[in-house]
Amino acid sequence: MMTRPDALQWWQRGSIYHVYPRSFQDANGDGIGDLPGITGRLEYCRWLGCDAVWLSPIYPSPMADFGYDVADHTGVDPRFGTLDDFDRLMAEARRLGLRILMDYVPNHTSEQHPWFVASRSSRHDPHRHWYVWRDPAPGGGPPNNWLSVFGGSSWTFDPTTGQYYLHSYLKEQPDLNWRNPEVERAMLDVMRFWLERGVHGFRIDSVSRLVKDAEFRDNPPNPDYRPGQAPYHQQRATYSADRPDLLPILARMRQLADRYADTVLLGEAYLPAARLRAYYGEGRPGLHFPFNFQLIRSPWDAAAVGSLVEQYEAELPAGLWPNWVLGNHDNHRVATRIGRRQARVAAMLLLTLRGTPVLYYGDEIGMVDVAVPADRVRDPWEKNVPGLGLGRDPERSPMQWDAGPHAGFSTAAPWLPVAGDHRQVNVALQREDPRSMLSLVRALLAIRAAHPALFGGRYVPVPSPHPDVMLYRREAENERFLVALNFGGAPREIGLGSPGERGSVVVSTLLDRAGEPVETPLCLRPDEGLLLAVGSG
Ligand code: NOJ
Ligand code: CA
Repeated sequence: MMTRPDALQWWQRGSIYHVYPRSFQDANGDGIGDLPGITGRLEYCRWLGCDAVWLSPIYPSPMADFGYDVADHTGVDPRFGTLDDFDRLMAEARRLGLRILMDYVPNHTSEQHPWFVASRSSRHDPHRHWYVWRDPAPGGGPPNNWLSVFGGSSWTFDPTTGQYYLHSYLKEQPDLNWRNPEVERAMLDVMRFWLERGVHGFRIDSVSRLVKDAEFRDNPPNPDYRPGQAPYHQQRATYSADRPDLLPILARMRQLADRYADTVLLGEAYLPAARLRAYYGEGRPGLHFPFNFQLIRSPWDAAAVGSLVEQYEAELPAGLWPNWVLGNHDNHRVATRIGRRQARVAAMLLLTLRGTPVLYYGDEIGMVDVAVPADRVRDPWEKNVPGLGLGRDPERSPMQWDAGPHAGFSTAAPWLPVAGDHRQVNVALQREDPRSMLSLVRALLAIRAAHPALFGGRYVPVPSPHPDVMLYRREAENERFLVALNFGGAPREIGLGSPGERGSVVVSTLLDRAGEPVETPLCLRPDEGLLLAVGSG
């Protein structure tokens, strides 16, 4: 399937860079990243070749969940700066031709948000029904069996008014009641506020949880749960997430976004591909795309990845736009999951698939998870449910800019430990090294941006002669590429496919074969990926 490349929007042709603001660049020496720090680094994001930057939340917050507990949706937390700093960031982004996407957190607020402070004050407060309040179960205890993602019940009893309130995450993150039209009005105003300030869209947090079962039925047990998984997975979220009633809300968000030029709505939902389709909208447009996290979850082997790409491509109806992600602030880093050598192969995959790539800061230099000693754990998930490897601090370590103190991230001790390898693995060194991971990612982004077949062409799977090798073509009217990815640590030889096909290496993940004529059999070195320009002749 192919949309005409010249008909594509910027967010289809381009790529998005995800910044976790606490960890990107600290400009005022308090060990916490901030907006002036990010502003100073936007030039880097542009140099790398990205088209937009998505900022994880920067709003005033008690930081129970590091900004995903919002106390004021239209302000900036003093730790990150001021609204003026934000406007300066926007001006710099405009100067560079970069777009800014905000994180939008509609499912819940902080317990310190004035709406919740009012809501919990009395059963008769005008904000009472802005949140989800229920009486205790007939015999006492929580109203139903729903579990919080971060451990324990998703209900907390509030003695002031004698009812329980719902929180899909921490008890410090009460869920808003989207069945109340006042909530929707107020939250659409929040979107309008940032759109008026010039942002080009939102990554919508926990979008699948916005609306819950109207009857609050118990969730059924999950027969696939295995010990070692987050306890939350003991049940299926049948009644607490992914309810069809949320789709009209997405349509109204989209209607608002469409009043502003070039705006994009991306939604975070960890759901099977078949379920994600609804989030694009049914009847009326919804999200531009829900995130597709399959590469984060999949075993790293050529057959598994090949078949998930093929299936996703086949299931996505015409006109719905794909996307791919290797990492984010909630998942262990790709270079830790599959190793640094394979992380290069993964980068080639990400940047040659059909669909918008979203890159997590630091993955472009091969940053790995940083172990955090028990006494420095910050993530509430790890604190609530320790010892299962659920903690997200390791993938949130400070960006490694250079070999100097604190990796150039800050002049003070950072809020999370800097990687021990930052003297060898950093932006400054890799910028100078034509064979570095950074050089590879930059080259791939440039090649992708220059070739309609890559940013907009068809994806054509090619049967692979070896279980370690994934092959596919990307094709547009006048150009054809073949991608050959060796997921293994041994050399592999592959035939080129159609007789008479020939071409040349555009880029190898090892950055040393550009221009080499392609002959069959093609030799892939261990952990090597090749992007080949092919033609018949
Ligand atoms: C998903 C966010 O990505 C994660 O960091 C956060 O903890 C939860 N949603 C709750 O907002
Ligand atoms: Ca700071």
